[in-house]
Amino acid sequence: MAIRKVIQVGDEVLRKKCFPVEKFDQNLWQLLDDMKDTVRYEEGAGLAAPQVGVLRRAVVCDVEEGFFELINPRFLKQKGEQTGPEGCLSVRGRQGNVSRPYKVKIAYSDRFGEEHVLEAKGFFARCICHELDHLDGILYIDKATDIETVR
Ligand code: NI
Repeated sequence: MAIRKVIQVGDEVLRKKCFPVEKFDQNLWQLLDDMKDTVRYEEGAGLAAPQVGVLRRAVVCDVEEGFFELINPRFLKQKGEQTGPEGCLSVRGRQGNVSRPYKVKIAYSDRFGEEHVLEAKGFFARCICHELDHLDGILYIDKATDIETVR
């Protein structure tokens, strides 16, 4: 377990499309353990593998509903709309309003390669959408209005 350095906007790594995870092995588990340590240390709600320099489709969400590891996640359904403030550990000191679906349904694998389906709404759904965007090289600042500086 270790805290990894979070790559900042401007680095090309954040703009690449990530590859699917194919091996559910020790390397993946180490990555996921480190991502958990890192997102908690940084007091974030989520983190995607490319933010720590790994171009694989893996994200974590640390929300009220619990801590989730989502490997090879993909949307099955998106419903409704919500607009609210969003920030990103790769875009320090800024936040902006982003429109997202209010509810999402996704399919994903856990760290052992087992498939699951998950439904989320509200902030959890927002977190999932934000993190999944990272896997395709999309940052919230591409979608946000009224980006402002925050402490
Ligand atoms: Ni982010």
